[in-house]
Amino acid sequence: MSSPTHKIAALFAGIGGIELGFNRAMGDDVETSLFCEWWDPARRVLTARFPDIDIHSDVRELTSIPEDTTLVTAGFPCTDLSQAGRMAGIEGANSGLIKHVFEVLDKAKANGHLPSLMIENVPNMLALNKGKAMSYLVQEIEQLGYRWAYRVVDSRFTGVPQRRRRVIMLASRDFDPRAVLFSDDAGPRDETDYKTDAFGFYWTEGRLGLGWAQDAVPTLKGGSTVGIPSPPAIWVPDAPIERRLVKPRVEDAELMQGFERGWTDVDFGTNRRNGPRWKLVGNAVTARVSEWVARRIAEPGDPDRLYTAWRHMGKSWPNAAWGENGKVYTVLDIGEFPEQQDYTHLREVVDVEAAEPLSARGAAGFCKRLYEGNLGRYPGFREDVLEYTEWISSVGAQQSAA
Ligand SMILES: C[S@@+](CC[C@H](N)C(=O)[O-])C[C@H]1O[C@@H](n2cnc3c(N)ncnc32)[C@H](O)[C@@H]1O
Repeated sequence: MSSPTHKIAALFAGIGGIELGFNRAMGDDVETSLFCEWWDPARRVLTARFPDIDIHSDVRELTSIPEDTTLVTAGFPCTDLSQAGRMAGIEGANSGLIKHVFEVLDKAKANGHLPSLMIENVPNMLALNKGKAMSYLVQEIEQLGYRWAYRVVDSRFTGVPQRRRRVIMLASRDFDPRAVLFSDDAGPRDETDYKTDAFGFYWTEGRLGLGWAQDAVPTLKGGSTVGIPSPPAIWVPDAPIERRLVKPRVEDAELMQGFERGWTDVDFGTNRRNGPRWKLVGNAVTARVSEWVARRIAEPGDPDRLYTAWRHMGKSWPNAAWGENGKVYTVLDIGEFPEQQDYTHLREVVDVEAAEPLSARGAAGFCKRLYEGNLGRYPGFREDVLEYTEWISSVGAQQSAA
């Protein structure tokens, strides 16, 4: 068998969302030769799902990558960049770890081989601190001599019912990143494609936002500011009252991240129910998004688009841009849906009959916040939350009286 064309060194590998997508798209033509992942539960998933691949622990101690690496992948921690996080920025203790990736690439370049780079992170990094994180990435990438491109995409383009906007950035001297990221544009889905029989929202919120999504869940998250992962809830308007507000299972979340159900069902060496699975899944890259990237690396398209020269000048970065040698161009005619793959509706993923109802405590807290604020104005939602909360608390009262 001939050796694969693409060899990946996967840094901040998590549960391997990027690499799974590449495997699906490229089959035997890709191989991951190294994982770097620091968190034990993620390492356990990697060991189970990608057996026999070396896992290095801490990116800060990674001094080199295999010489034949063609692509370094780095979905680096977003905790300092995301709106749900600490917002310390690119110099934060976690997101700042990306600098070690550039150190490794610097060394590789000095040794005569510069692999391509794929980065994934939250769109807030385009805006936070006037786009400082993006400016830093571009500066490091340009110093290495790459051509680069990035684009914000919404995971729903792959057909999964999860609204998840992420920046995908590619830098390469071997292929044209524009031909990968900018060749496809399908326009947003027609609003009527989304059904009105299920809505995702964050029951842990309610004051400033709800993370509302129609026929989808809002972005699955690795954790809140305090690090506790909080699964979203689903409002099912036409369900009987005892199933009106339910929670998806972690297996549903795996599917909504493009994995097969059970991907993170491994032995974590703890008895805690589901242990860290929500956090692992929420942190991941939607595997179907990286599958699209990999397909386009294998078969680049035609990135004939409307580009215009752009200068940073201390403001937010645009949603899609490319550059090299100090020049930046924004893409005027591109959206967040490269394709419109067949859509899986939320109720096709979540079995409402079997789903866990939102707890009395969770419902009561959410209901209070919802009514204190002015959110959740979709017709029927506030009324249903109130009705459900009253119902579930009465069930609790009956049980404790019995
Ligand atoms: C956003 S997640 C990456 C998700 C991954 N792309 C996936 O699809 O699952 C960032 C990962 O970086 C890992 N990480 C954090 N600090 C690290 C370090 N010092 N060395 C290696 N990995 C680290 C975290 O444990 C987490 O799994």
